[in-house]
Amino acid sequence: MTDNAVEFNGQTITKGDLLYEGKAKQVFATSDPAILWMHYMDQVTALNGKVKEEYAGKGQLNSNISNRLFTYLASKGVTHHWLGSVSATDELVKKVDIIPLEVVTRNYTAGHFVSRFGVEPMQKLTPRVQELYYKSDELDDPFMNQSQAISLGFASEADLKTIFALADEVNELLVALFEQIDITLIDYKLEFGRLADGQIILADELSPDNMRLVDQKTGKSLDKDVFRQKQGDLRVGYQDVLERLEDVLK
Ligand code: C5P
Repeated sequence: MTDNAVEFNGQTITKGDLLYEGKAKQVFATSDPAILWMHYMDQVTALNGKVKEEYAGKGQLNSNISNRLFTYLASKGVTHHWLGSVSATDELVKKVDIIPLEVVTRNYTAGHFVSRFGVEPMQKLTPRVQELYYKSDELDDPFMNQSQAISLGFASEADLKTIFALADEVNELLVALFEQIDITLIDYKLEFGRLADGQIILADELSPDNMRLVDQKTGKSLDKDVFRQKQGDLRVGYQDVLERLEDVLK
């Protein structure tokens, strides 16, 4: 097999045209219309792409962490798009129509929740907070409420109910998993997509690029905040997260 073709479930999957390039991933078509090929890039961005840097090996770390988290969620009954790894940085995923909403869950105050509402950081939020943002780079992913999302045709009321319930299920599982490895899951972003039959499933990636993770012993960030706040090499925290996950998910 070459770098652009792989045996998967008894068939040869060939990488096709680039369909989409985001801030940290590229998505390609494949020879199977129901499967996409996702590549994790080493690029890291902040301020919606205004600050950019390359960290060799970052894509590999995120792919590895994401694959482990998706596999864990699947073992607990969560349906998602991840099908399998092709290489250290590439994976196959189910083709979905991405719903253009970013679903943020917050277990503790941080980031924009702190700047928006003038509250102290690291305060536990009970109940957890669920927020929607419109996924649009040009508009800087603006905050969006449910009626706006429904009126604009992004999701029905029933879809949003499904999405928030799935986000809660994922939250319970991820909080418990990270607790086991002495990490607090502060907040994170999820994306969902629709399969051809209309089923809504978890999509995108699950990595420290999209989560705030704090080491319970040291209070240090193990995620992209290290880059956002210019605290050093973000790969140190990502590697730490990966090693702890490898340990607990053996
Ligand atoms: O910036 P904010 O505090 O709203 O971010 C909340 C969480 O959602 C953080 O974990 C952040 O990494 C994630 N996020 C993301 N992509 C965005 C916006 C936020 O992954 N476009």
